[in-house]
Amino acid sequence: MRLSVIGCGYLGAVHAAAMASLGHDVVGIDVDEAKVRSLSLGRAPFHEPHLEPLLAEGIAAGRLTFTTDMAAASGSAVHFVGVGTPQQKDGDAADLTYVGAAIDGLLPYLAPGDVVAGKSTVPVGTAAELAPRVEATGATLVWNPEFLREGWAVKDTVDPDRLVVGVPTSSTTGEPDEAGAAAADVLREVYHAALANGAPFIVTDLATAELVKVAANAFLATKISFINAMAEIAEVTGADVTQLADALGHDVRIGRRFLGAGIGFGGGCLPKDIRAFSARAEELGRGESVAFLREVDAINLRRRRRAVDLVVEALGGSVFKKNVTVLGAAFKPHSDDIRDSPALDVAVRLHGLGAWVTITDPAALENAQRLHPQLNYVAERDDALREADAIIMVTEWDEYRRELTPEHAATLTRGRIVVDGRNGWDAAAWRAAGWTYYGM
Ligand code: UGA
Repeated sequence: MRLSVIGCGYLGAVHAAAMASLGHDVVGIDVDEAKVRSLSLGRAPFHEPHLEPLLAEGIAAGRLTFTTDMAAASGSAVHFVGVGTPQQKDGDAADLTYVGAAIDGLLPYLAPGDVVAGKSTVPVGTAAELAPRVEATGATLVWNPEFLREGWAVKDTVDPDRLVVGVPTSSTTGEPDEAGAAAADVLREVYHAALANGAPFIVTDLATAELVKVAANAFLATKISFINAMAEIAEVTGADVTQLADALGHDVRIGRRFLGAGIGFGGGCLPKDIRAFSARAEELGRGESVAFLREVDAINLRRRRRAVDLVVEALGGSVFKKNVTVLGAAFKPHSDDIRDSPALDVAVRLHGLGAWVTITDPAALENAQRLHPQLNYVAERDDALREADAIIMVTEWDEYRRELTPEHAATLTRGRIVVDGRNGWDAAAWRAAGWTYYGM
C-alpha cells in the first residue's frame, strides 16, 4: 500500500521505516530540510536502537523516501500525521499549531476515499474539530494513537501491544459510520503483520481513541509517582522502597513495572501529557476529575529536589566547590533525549549551588551541552569520575548501573560518597567497599 507520514521526528521517522519494513511504499514528509537529508541517507537524526538498519533496508528496496514536498503525499491511501504537540510556552495546554498546519498542508493533496490517520498525542476533542476540513475533500479522519517508547520504538511499532483506531461514528447508533468502517478496514490492511502476530485491534470513536493515549500516559505517570510517594514515607520510617515495590509487584493486579522509585519521570511525553490532560479537563469543566495529576506532577518534581538535597547532605551541608560527577543526562537509558530530563535538572541545580559538576552520558552529551553550555561535559565515564568528591547516578545506563563496580570507582574518585538516583545499585556492595551510599 502507498502511505505518507507527515512529521519525521521520533514518532514519524520510526513509523515510516517500520511501515516500509512491512512491505508498504512510504514517503516521509517533514518541513526540516536537514532532517529529511539525514533520513534520506539512512541516518537517524536521534539515537534510536535498530532504526538505522530499518531505514537503510527500506531505502535500498526503493520502498522508503523522505522529502519536504507535501505534494508527495498525493496518491497515498493513508496519510499518517505524527507531528509534535509540545507544551505551550505560556501554559500547560498542548500546542496544536503543528497538527493544524500539517492537516491544512495536506488538504490540497487528499482524494476521496483517502484516510488521514492522526498519530500525535492530542487533547480529547481535537479530531472532531479537525474532521470537517478533512471530510470536505472526501477523505476520512481517524485517530490512531502511538504507544511507542523511546529506546524500544522499532519493536513497539512493528509488534505493538495493541492497536487503537478511533473512527467517525453514527450519532444514532454510536457504531462506526460507513466511512469510519471503511477506514478501519484500510488500517487493518496496513497493520496486517502486527495483527497476524496477535495484536488486539480496537475500533472505537474518535474521543475514546484520543483518551486511550493520554489515559495510558497518565496511568504510567501516576504509577511512578505512587511509588515515589511511598519512597518519601520509606525515607522517614526506614522502610525499603525497592523491596516494597517487589512485594507489591507480585500482585498481578498491580504488577512490578513502572514501580521504579528514583528521581522520577521526564522526557517529551509523560510530563507534558499529564499537564495537557489537566488543562483540557479544566476546559471541559472536569478539572477535579484529574486534580490528582497535579499531585502526580508535584511528587515527581519533588524527587529531583530530594536528590539534590541528598548530595548536599552527603557532602556535609554544602556542595560549594565540591566535584560532583553526574552519571547520565538523558531522561532515560537508550535515548539521547534530554527533554524535561530529571538528570539534567539535578545537574543544573547542583551547579546552581556552586558545585563543580561534571556530566557524562553515552548518547545525550551533545544535546545536553547545547542546552546547558555552562556545565562540564566529559565523554568517558572513567575520566568523568576522576577526583570526584561525590557521584550521583541519574540515568541508569548499563555502563553505570551494571558495569561500574564500587571497587573500580574507588580507584578514580577522591571521595567515597555515592547517591543512587535510580535505586539501581546494590547498596550493600557499595557499603562493603567503603562507600557511603544514599538511595532514593
Ligand atoms: C512514554 C510511554 O511509556 C509510551 O507508551 C508512550 O508512547 C510515550 O511516552 C509517548 O507518549 O510517546 P517514553 O517517554 O519513551 O514513553 O518513556 P518511558 O519508558 O515511559 O519512561 C518515562 C520516564 O519514566 C523516564 O524518565 C523513566 O526514567 C521514568 N520511569 C520509568 C521511572 O522513573 N520509573 C519507572 O519505574 C519507569
